[in-house]
Amino acid sequence: MEQTIPNIVESPQRMTVDEFRQISEFITTHYGIKLPDFKKTMVEGRLQKRLRKTSIKTFSEYIDFVFSKQGKDEMLEMIDAISTNKTDFFRESTHFDFLTNTLLPQFAKENPREKLKIWSAAASSGEEIYTIAMVMEEYNSNINESNVNYSILGTDISIEKLKTAIAAIYPEDRIKDVPIIIRDKYLMKSKDPSKKVVRFTPSIRSRVEFRRLNLMENKYPVDGDYDIIFCRNVLIYFDKNLQERVINKLCEKLKPGGYFFLGHSESIIGKEVPLRQIEPTVYQKI
Ligand SMILES: C[S@@+](CC[C@H](N)C(=O)[O-])C[C@H]1O[C@@H](n2cnc3c(N)ncnc32)[C@H](O)[C@@H]1O
Repeated sequence: MEQTIPNIVESPQRMTVDEFRQISEFITTHYGIKLPDFKKTMVEGRLQKRLRKTSIKTFSEYIDFVFSKQGKDEMLEMIDAISTNKTDFFRESTHFDFLTNTLLPQFAKENPREKLKIWSAAASSGEEIYTIAMVMEEYNSNINESNVNYSILGTDISIEKLKTAIAAIYPEDRIKDVPIIIRDKYLMKSKDPSKKVVRFTPSIRSRVEFRRLNLMENKYPVDGDYDIIFCRNVLIYFDKNLQERVINKLCEKLKPGGYFFLGHSESIIGKEVPLRQIEPTVYQKI
């Protein structure tokens, strides 16, 4: 007679307070991301997935591995798992209206032959960068004067997210916020309709470049003459002193008179930074 074998589901590993503190202190020191005690459940949940993926049985063994020489790659996976990468096309869209209606006409008038250099310093999986590229292309296709030449750099700490950004391929449901009239111009459907993915056109891809950069680094290895820097929705994860340090370091890379964008829940209030406010969350280097 056939015997029924009961389904054995292993209960997920629990993380001790001590283990959480080892991880959170490391992440805060090296990546700036604040992890107060109330985030323990979130960290535990996200790292339980890493335990399953690596077939490591306990958090104690995982910590030993991740901090060892052999655990270098897993360290990157751990940071990816813990950091919040939420982003969208046309997120906080007033910034892109400001770009189209104010910044670009001004730049075209004042610097007709120059290249506009834009940097997104927390680019995640690329949605912000490709939004900027589409806005630039739309601006250029709607004006009679000569086009604004431009380049866009995207940096982030997450290797996984940067890989997505470089591939420039997104599920169709991710582009719902891209106005239909511009989707057809800059996004190509897959030849295989069952795939339901889209990819940015080569002309858009040729304008963008992605690199890994940790905002905690002492020196940012990028040029020093950006016209516009986007640093949106990352500083909220840092403490106030670090926010001030990062903004100052980014401003070193911004031209005098250049523009700086923060996320809608971020501000420079109470920070000593060389910026003056132009619009909510839009600043200009003094
Ligand atoms: C919430 S996303 C914001 C993405 C985009 N700027 C937006 O507003 O839609 C925050 C990004 O900051 C990145 N990040 C976190 N800490 C960082 C650090 N120390 N250096 C560079 N990037 C970091 C994360 O990997 C993540 O992709």
